[in-house]
Amino acid sequence: MIEVKGLKKCYRGRTVLDLDELRVQQGSTLALAGANGSGKTTLLRILAGNLKPTEGAVETASPVLYLPQRSYPFRGTVLDNMLLGAKDKKEEALHLLQSAELAHLQSKKAASLSGGELQRLAFCRLLVRPCRLLLLDEPTSACDAAGAKLLLELLARYRRETGCTVILSTHTPAVALQAAQRLLILHNGRPEADGDPKELLSAPGSDWAREFVAGWKI
Ligand SMILES: Nc1ncnc2c1ncn2[C@@H]1O[C@H](COP(=O)(O)OP(=O)(O)OP(=O)(O)O)[C@@H](O)[C@H]1O
Ligand SMILES: [Mg+2]
Repeated sequence: MIEVKGLKKCYRGRTVLDLDELRVQQGSTLALAGANGSGKTTLLRILAGNLKPTEGAVETASPVLYLPQRSYPFRGTVLDNMLLGAKDKKEEALHLLQSAELAHLQSKKAASLSGGELQRLAFCRLLVRPCRLLLLDEPTSACDAAGAKLLLELLARYRRETGCTVILSTHTPAVALQAAQRLLILHNGRPEADGDPKELLSAPGSDWAREFVAGWKI
């Protein structure tokens, strides 16, 4: 169970995140949506433990794995990236690269990958290890349709195998519909709508959420 209480993040007096309460059941997947600047990354970074909230407390399961919004390569080859701190996991690493259709690139320098390839690598790099909480900030943003499909399949398999909780942010309705049992829409750092993704998309609740979701379908 992930539990957040009275959480606030302010920058120079401006509140960018204000969540009274958030509970996420162990083993479930929550999708976060909302316009640019609505607080998705801020929330994920606080849950990942790499940003301090101004107020409030979070309780998370551990270990936590976190995929930042911007993917970056580590030094060395694609395979080196997979084995960083996991030297004994070569078999799993190769299997993951195969599943993500990156195996043919395993000897290339990670820094030479395309944006979408690098995003898939950054994701696979996490999945070498088990975790209890997986935080993914726009995990398919650089992927083409086939790459996004692969990534979501890998995520589903990892979830089945580990039983981990997943919290991901996305600007893609299909990702929320396919991967999550719950969708939380943030508006100026506050929860605007919260519920089953399919139900929320057809009956968004507030006027603001209706307008957001209408735009989201384009
Ligand atoms: N270090 C900082 N100093 C001041 N303001 C910041 C800082 N980091 C983030 N913010 C502000 O906090 C707000 C929330 O940012 P956040 O990155 O959480 O949004 P987001 O929902 O992830 O947006 P996007 O969809 O563009 O990724 C934004 O208005 C941003 O400008
Ligand atoms: Mg963000």
